Amino acid sequence: MNILVTGGAGFIGSHLVQTLLLQGHKVITLDDLSAGREAFLQEAIHHENHTFIQGSVLNRTLIKQCIDQAEAVFHLAAVLGVKNTVDDPVKVIEGNIDGTRHVLELAFRRGIKVIFASTSEVYGKNTSLPFSETSDRVYGAPSIHRWCYATAKSIDEHLCFAFADKGLPVTVLRYFNAYGPRQMNSQYGMVIPRFIHAALSGQPLLVHGDGSQSRCFTYVDDTVRGTISALGRQADGLAFNIGSNRPTTVLQLARMIVKMTGSKSPIQFLSYEEAYGKGYEDMPARIPDLTRSSALLGFSPRVSLEDGIGRTIHWSRGK
Ligand SMILES: NC(=O)c1ccc[n+]([C@@H]2O[C@H](COP(=O)([O-])OP(=O)(O)OC[C@H]3O[C@@H](n4cnc5c(N)ncnc54)[C@H](O)[C@@H]3O)[C@@H](O)[C@H]2O)c1
Repeated sequence: MNILVTGGAGFIGSHLVQTLLLQGHKVITLDDLSAGREAFLQEAIHHENHTFIQGSVLNRTLIKQCIDQAEAVFHLAAVLGVKNTVDDPVKVIEGNIDGTRHVLELAFRRGIKVIFASTSEVYGKNTSLPFSETSDRVYGAPSIHRWCYATAKSIDEHLCFAFADKGLPVTVLRYFNAYGPRQMNSQYGMVIPRFIHAALSGQPLLVHGDGSQSRCFTYVDDTVRGTISALGRQADGLAFNIGSNRPTTVLQLARMIVKMTGSKSPIQFLSYEEAYGKGYEDMPARIPDLTRSSALLGFSPRVSLEDGIGRTIHWSRGK
């Protein structure tokens, strides 16, 4: 199959491209390299079935050229991370909505499948756990920038479902905290690369708040497997949670990383205000209900947190 992957030089995208090539697909990777790296495609770049195009999903002419050659699109290009969300909300809103609209409109013209990378952030601060795909969104006030990424991804989802009603085969995937090799420490303040970097360089691991907030950390191979399983027609017109359903608190995570790296780094606490400025809101927990993903996609996470963290530490040491 000829497949377009937007954001394919990023963390999840580069693993996805590699797996699609291994499965025998022809892949066009489109990425503006704003966050991604060509080096992440090292194993793909010289593959005869791979084409890399440096460019933006905001460039409609370019997207059209790519979509004209594709039979399916994995749309992962996005501006993400709590840090971007707080520091540059305009970039987050434009970067996430305009490109998705181009992709959906142009794919609709050709009737080709779109798989859209959404996020567990769309559930916001809903406290009824676990989140099923029909759970409510609960957000703070629009004056709090922290909610602009979730809002932008929600608008993207609305667009996906609107095009689904018109007949576009489109699937929405809500990723829960993916992690693994190639997730970078610097860009967005993602917790696992940040902790591993601190532990390996002898700096303190800075836990935001009291560390009791929990997340379901998902190894990238599981995320990619769930993503590819959405190519099937049974997934059309639906959203799916893709992630681990084992919650781990941020403090447990910090202790695990200190232990597994053998680091002497201390664990220190930083208030949300010190980390992100006034008015930051965080969710105490996020857990996916995997009933639908398991029934329709055959998805269940396979890599344990200990195993995944071990592989990520190994990669970080060799960087
Ligand atoms: N990592 C996670 O835990 C997580 C969780 C939920 C959802 N997601 C979603 O998964 C997708 C991939 O995330 P990731 O973690 O790999 O992040 P990432 O930043 O590594 O990947 C995004 C890629 O998109 C590219 N990009 C950004 N704007 C672009 C544009 N206008 N045109 C072309 N390329 C552009 C970046 O250069 C980058 O390579 C995103 O849509 C993200 O919102 C990720």
